[in-house]
Amino acid sequence: MTSYLLRGVSVLGAEPTDLLIRDGVIASGPATGADIIDAAGLVALPGLVDLHTHLREPGREDAETVETGSRAAALGGYTAVFAMANTSPVADTAGVVEQVWRLGREAGLVDVQPIGAVTVGLAGKQLAELGAMATSAAGVRIFSDDGHCVADPRLMRRALEYVKAFDGIIAQHAEEPRLTEGAQMHEGEVSTRLGLTGWPAVAEEAIIARDVLLAEHVGSRLHICHVSTAGSVEVLRQAKARGVRVTAEVTPHHLLLTDELAASYDPVYKVNPPLRTAKDVHALREALVEGVIDIVATDHAPHAVEDKECEWAYARPGMVGLETALPVVLSVLGERWDLIAERMSRTPARIAGLTGHGTDLAVGDPANLTLVDPSARRVVDPSELASRSRNTPYAGTTLPGRIVATFLRGEPTVLDGKAVK
Ligand code: DOR
Ligand code: ZN
Repeated sequence: MTSYLLRGVSVLGAEPTDLLIRDGVIASGPATGADIIDAAGLVALPGLVDLHTHLREPGREDAETVETGSRAAALGGYTAVFAMANTSPVADTAGVVEQVWRLGREAGLVDVQPIGAVTVGLAGKQLAELGAMATSAAGVRIFSDDGHCVADPRLMRRALEYVKAFDGIIAQHAEEPRLTEGAQMHEGEVSTRLGLTGWPAVAEEAIIARDVLLAEHVGSRLHICHVSTAGSVEVLRQAKARGVRVTAEVTPHHLLLTDELAASYDPVYKVNPPLRTAKDVHALREALVEGVIDIVATDHAPHAVEDKECEWAYARPGMVGLETALPVVLSVLGERWDLIAERMSRTPARIAGLTGHGTDLAVGDPANLTLVDPSARRVVDPSELASRSRNTPYAGTTLPGRIVATFLRGEPTVLDGKAVK
């Protein structure tokens, strides 16, 4: 196994130092025989951890596979991703989650941890085999019907009760379906102007309010996916102040983009929950800095060309995000490296109980890390993405920061900004 010496690297923005990677861990002592990487001007972060990735395999390998999504993740600085369950077949059995887990191991580019469905077929009628998925080789801890809301309160309560036994988490896609029937974009001034059916903020906020009460009642862990409104932030703030075991994520796109973009009718901006207003964006940024929102998660949602390059009403919601997440967050937060590491690596790893990721990069820690050049700026070119899909909302946009290298347990998955395999 090759050793690497990262010469003159800034760990989390600190004074330049040399970092030795040997036998898969951060090491000390002489760097004899190590490959030397000139890391002057580069910042080392613990490898990023994404709690919300759609890898599309099994079922839509034309849009993404575990391997292509893993490569996109590594290029984005990630060392672990959690794969959402809305595949075909749905990841609602031990068999499917083990398949995804095995494909992740075979690709070997990031640690792929499957998320199990809460309900059979994501249909919201009957609990899936949560226990069997938890005790499978994949060791599932997080369950979500993402793409769909677990709308039935009794089922949601049961799910929370069930996972409490093994300290599992229910990750909710908060969308009251009766309030979003036919919705095409955020309900507000812009939807009125465009004449498109709106997705009101309250459809998200009402489910979060209900579910924090249920989680409080049961004493279980709840995670809220892709929080998108200022009102949701206030519900979460109150719940956390009461000590409810709730965590929450925000996506890079909800931190940067607004519903005004829908005026272009370009379906690349169609996403669920929808892009909101500048006021919401402002509240989400503040909440992320404060910690009311715990983490950034990509909701990387690759879609085939025919599902995206069509009329707005027929297009699938979602955008790819793994390869642009860190640059977007850098543009939003600036070079606050410790905060970035907290929101994109340490806290997601801690929420998921994922050991070996999100460390302080101390001697003896597994060498799961990424090297960023903060002075570089890149124009996003969809044809250069490693993802099998091209649906990025940032095409032609200049973003700060370039991921130069990523290491998974001491092995480079990305070097010189290129995937190693
Ligand atoms: O925009 C979205 N796309 N939101 C979701 O909840 C699901 C996701 C997908 O699977 O494409
Ligand atoms: Zn979702």
